[in-house]
Amino acid sequence: MYKTTLSLLLLTAGLCGCGPATAQNAMPSAANADAYPSAPRDPALKPVFDQFGGKPGLIALMNDFMDNLVADPVTRPYFENADRNHIKAELVDQFCVILDGPCTYTGKDMASAHRGMDVDRAAFNALVQDLQTAMNKHDIPFRAQNKLLAKLAPMHRQIVTKP
Ligand code: HEM
Repeated sequence: MYKTTLSLLLLTAGLCGCGPATAQNAMPSAANADAYPSAPRDPALKPVFDQFGGKPGLIALMNDFMDNLVADPVTRPYFENADRNHIKAELVDQFCVILDGPCTYTGKDMASAHRGMDVDRAAFNALVQDLQTAMNKHDIPFRAQNKLLAKLAPMHRQIVTKP
């Protein structure tokens, strides 16, 4: 079930590379993702912010998310020498803004933050799975997870720079 929906999301965002190109048209937000800033606020997602447990919930989630990223051999090389506390703090603010929480994101835009890292699709997909694992551990409702993932998936256009 989880894997099915993740695959759908990645396919829709054009990440999988294993499905028909027309699948990208299934989600309008992915089709015009280039028009999105790195952290768009969506007032419709305020209930989802609450389902994540507000800002304290996001802080707790990010600790497990980062632990997963460092434990995952695909993503570890990117994060093991990075300032992980800084990244976690920026991610909390970014997700908080996306979910219409009372936060301000002052970090870099996604293209600048990931420039020169040679992030490929496998790494991006692995990161999404590591986030899903953390969200499951925190009992975030499945539909709430997918609302957030639908906002993150289009960001691959700014982040993935290696075929
Ligand atoms: C939707 C997916 C992603 C989101 C929302 C995201 C978000 C962020 C944010 C908010 C920052 C902090 C920016 C700042 O310092 O101002 C950041 C930095 C970083 N991200 Fe990502 N990221 C994503 C995907 C990835 C992937 C796939 C990788 C590698 C596997 C990655 C590796 C990093 C690293 C290493 C940094 C720290 C860069 C530095 O030290 O300056 N990110 N990311």
